[in-house]
Amino acid sequence: MSRFEGKIAVITGGGTGIGRATALVLAREGADIVVVSNVADQAQAVAEEVRALGAKGLAKVVDVTDIPAVNALAAEVDAQLGKTDILVTCAGVMGARKLLTETSSEEWGKTIEVNLNATFYCIKAFLPGMLERDSGRIITLSSASGKLPAALNSDYAASKHGVVGLTKALALELGILGKHGVTANTLCPGPIDTPMMDAIADHFGAPGASRETFRAKAAKNIQRRLLDPDEVAHMAAYLASNEARGVTGQAMNICGGLVLF
Ligand SMILES: NC(=O)c1ccc[n+]([C@@H]2O[C@H](COP(=O)([O-])OP(=O)(O)OC[C@H]3O[C@@H](n4cnc5c(N)ncnc54)[C@H](O)[C@@H]3O)[C@@H](O)[C@H]2O)c1
Repeated sequence: MSRFEGKIAVITGGGTGIGRATALVLAREGADIVVVSNVADQAQAVAEEVRALGAKGLAKVVDVTDIPAVNALAAEVDAQLGKTDILVTCAGVMGARKLLTETSSEEWGKTIEVNLNATFYCIKAFLPGMLERDSGRIITLSSASGKLPAALNSDYAASKHGVVGLTKALALELGILGKHGVTANTLCPGPIDTPMMDAIADHFGAPGASRETFRAKAAKNIQRRLLDPDEVAHMAAYLASNEARGVTGQAMNICGGLVLF
């Protein structure tokens, strides 16, 4: 029997990159997937890929910063599929990539809203069902920047440090509530070869400098390479599995050794 047979996973930001890879890794092992994205055709394309693997694939177009829409999503998933076993919050934005002195309040607010606040909104919407059943997996997306901040990255680093704190505090509360069947962990990837990395390369690309030059510079980890989204997805799958039932409150590095703590 496949590891995730009969399980339902909701993946925000599931239309591209790490979210898409996670959807496909979990589906290959039997999970039914709700692909959540703010981009309709990307959500539908990944749901189609999931169905091609023989699992149920549902596309949901939701802006994760829209609290009523996130709550409605949780209710719809309950009504259509029954329960959510696994929540993976991959929706995220790269941030302003500017000096703090040049980052506007609007830019700051947008990064915090999508990366941090929406992680909270999604957990709030999906956790109650998991608590009722004392069974579930919350997997959030932080970043290497959630441990090791970089210059020109204050909004993003703050949002991702926030996700680490939020996830660890949640794990502690699950313990106090005696809900040992629900785990909460966060992933700290970086640098991963996804559309976000391309967007960063485009943002920083000096005139005449190629994307490849930026990508080579970005890969300043021990292995001197960008990792594949699949490598992050397999860590998510481990955390989602029964084998990881004793792993909670952890911030897992998947970064080729960029961060060593
Ligand atoms: N690529 C990396 O090197 C890297 C490193 C560390 C952390 N991360 C994190 O991993 C997560 C996934 O990023 P990725 O690299 O796959 O990039 P990506 O740009 O491919 O994925 C982000 C996804 O989030 C979706 N999204 C953005 N705003 C949304 C909103 N308001 N509502 C719903 N969906 C929204 C986008 O449509 C996109 O599909 C992000 O949280 C990112 O910060 C990425």
